[in-house]
Amino acid sequence: MAGCGSWVFLLTVCAVSVFGAKAEIKFTIPVGKLFTYELKRETFQSEFEPLSKLYAGRLYDDPMTFKCNKQNFPDLPEWLRFTQRHPFDNGFLYGTPTSPGKSIIEIYAVNKRSYETARHILVLKVTAEKMLPYQAEFFLKLREIEKVLPSSVQDEIKQDLQKLWDTEALEMVNISNALDQGGRVPLPLAGHFEGVYVKVGSEQYFSDCLQRVLTPEHQRQCTAGAKVKVPGGCNFCSIPSNCITWCKTELFDLTKLEPEPPAPTMGSGILDAGIDFDPPESPPSRDYFPDYMVTVIVPLILAIILCALLAYIMFCRREGVAKRNARTNQIQLYHQHTIHENTDELRNMAGNRGVPPPLSTLPMFNYRTGERASPLQSDSPSIPLIMAQHDPYSDTLPRK
Ligand SMILES: *[C@@H]1O[C@H](CO)[C@@H](O)[C@H](O)[C@H]1NC(C)=O
Repeated sequence: MAGCGSWVFLLTVCAVSVFGAKAEIKFTIPVGKLFTYELKRETFQSEFEPLSKLYAGRLYDDPMTFKCNKQNFPDLPEWLRFTQRHPFDNGFLYGTPTSPGKSIIEIYAVNKRSYETARHILVLKVTAEKMLPYQAEFFLKLREIEKVLPSSVQDEIKQDLQKLWDTEALEMVNISNALDQGGRVPLPLAGHFEGVYVKVGSEQYFSDCLQRVLTPEHQRQCTAGAKVKVPGGCNFCSIPSNCITWCKTELFDLTKLEPEPPAPTMGSGILDAGIDFDPPESPPSRDYFPDYMVTVIVPLILAIILCALLAYIMFCRREGVAKRNARTNQIQLYHQHTIHENTDELRNMAGNRGVPPPLSTLPMFNYRTGERASPLQSDSPSIPLIMAQHDPYSDTLPRK
């Protein structure tokens, strides 16, 4: 038993040093056929900790994310898409090449527990092949792209469609997320799915069942919005989630496509000898004066009028100080004056030291004459606190 274990160990070490160091996987894909490649987490896991299972007897199941791009480019080729729902799920590279060529795809896996990375190289050689002339697209409402891409599920779907098409010679042409074709993001509830479009192709013409899609009756039913079921005898889906939405079925007959018009032939760029160059006539002269009037003169006149109006309002219609004073209540004006005078007094006092204390600090005084009134006299409620003798505003103030 121990001997067997050490052999396995040795083989693993060899396998890791041979494949792990320079993992390069090659595929040859024909144009117009679906290509799917599953990025298996197990594969990368065994690369991150190749000996942990044998040595420590423990196998990790780490979350992983993948980053895929064409070598020396930031992104994948146009036709290739990548999807991974969750770091605990496998990732998928899938798509349908449209033109022959060779692409080298780099796959970086990041272990989200240890933050180790691993790199794989995928070499995809796309070979030219004739497109399948008859193609049909079906919509699977109760599916999500990651659940359809595993080859076992693809085979199940294909088997149903082979019965519907009534032929064995059927090829997957495209599988795409309904979100990529303008579908809506579903509610995050059970029983709501994004939906998947599956396109298949064949050399054989559409079966009678499929030809019903082309009838005017089918179109009328579907535009009416009623829930149209797959017609009897044509319903072959064995697994409910693989059932197609009949109204979203579309048939493509590529034999009926018109050939593209030939590209225009380019000349040499040199005129034939003997022909004189005839320059094009200069265009008729144009009168720009009305345009000038509208774009320059009219706004200018408007601006001048506005300026004049503003100047009149600012300079000719302003109220002067005298006018404002005349309108103001006398008591209010008087109040303002005393504030000004007190301020002046305080300013003067600040100018030199040793001045007598300000009059306003004395218990009772006439602020103009400095005359002190006797406290007895001023206690009388009939005498105002402020004596108003020789006061310019005295006409509004109460008199003694
Ligand atoms: C496959 O489907 C995708 C998504 O709708 C689309 O962009 C792409 O052109 C399709 N490829 C072919 C070959 O039909």
